[in-house]
Amino acid sequence: MLLYEGAMEFSAIYKMKVGPEWRTYNCHRKDVVEEGATDVNEKRSSSELRVEREKVFFKAKGGEITIINDDFLTTNTIPPDSIDLIVTSPPYNVDIHYESFRDDIPYERYLEFTKKWLRKALRLVKPDGRMCLNIPLDKSKGRREEGFQSVYADILTIAKEVGWKYFSTIIWNESNISRRTAWGSWRSASAPYVIAPVEVIVVLYRNRWKKTSGSGISDITREEFIEWTNGIWTFSGESRKRIGHPAPFPLELPKRCIKLFSFVGDVVLDPFLGSGTTLIACALLGRRGIGVEIDRNYCELAKNRLIKEGNILQTKLK
Ligand SMILES: C[S@@+](CC[C@H](N)C(=O)[O-])C[C@H]1O[C@@H](n2cnc3c(N)ncnc32)[C@H](O)[C@@H]1O
Repeated sequence: MLLYEGAMEFSAIYKMKVGPEWRTYNCHRKDVVEEGATDVNEKRSSSELRVEREKVFFKAKGGEITIINDDFLTTNTIPPDSIDLIVTSPPYNVDIHYESFRDDIPYERYLEFTKKWLRKALRLVKPDGRMCLNIPLDKSKGRREEGFQSVYADILTIAKEVGWKYFSTIIWNESNISRRTAWGSWRSASAPYVIAPVEVIVVLYRNRWKKTSGSGISDITREEFIEWTNGIWTFSGESRKRIGHPAPFPLELPKRCIKLFSFVGDVVLDPFLGSGTTLIACALLGRRGIGVEIDRNYCELAKNRLIKEGNILQTKLK
């Protein structure tokens, strides 16, 4: 099965215009890009076009599935007002050992980062665009001096501040995960810990909830619709070891979000792609998918998973 063509390897020093100023970059890349890949904004100059094209790590299905190796905060590869649905799980700042960045920054800085990416994400979605944001309810581990943090409440407040509108919260009951690492004070009211073994999926939208853009074709079954519109979802988490990434979500999560909240043929974005799970769901469900991932090794992992598990030219996910 030929999924891609045109492997290229090169070293170059190039200049790129970032805002008003020109910056110099040194680049060595060995990319695999489908021939004729053209996902960038056509109004840009040819030099900008070339640089951004280089950030496209992988394309498949005639350009319907794209992995971009870049920092979501600064990437220019996705046109504004172009995304129907974002499905993502950002870094949680709980000291997970990723390859390319620190996941244990001070909480205030983490919230600043959150504000930046939420603002950028809002610019990229269509007026009736939506976002399913998988985050923890709270944070009970990490830097001692900061104590526990109400992550869900804080992120939702920031999302509304930057302009997202709130629709609903789905509770994901990760049935196979035990979050219990400590009791606090055992059988004593002195300082007991209370830990909810769940995460949340916050559902947000840009301007209006009623979706008018897109094909209008839904592929969700009667049973799925009845079950998934009940906002408590119970399914297992994904094994880090099996996937080879420190924080993957299971395929079931993007699959449900995509079938419930997007039409067939819609454009789905995951700005923190990780091991590529959202794009696998897109490939299996006939959605166009874009994933941005800062770490090149995770892009490679996502590409390999897409080829193996994305079943790109074969059966559709039921
Ligand atoms: C929680 S993981 C996502 C896991 C993904 N849902 C999966 O199923 O594998 C967050 C990912 O965001 C990436 N990341 C962190 N900062 C980023 C940034 N500024 N731009 C793009 N990716 C980033 C990390 O490398 C990590 O792989």
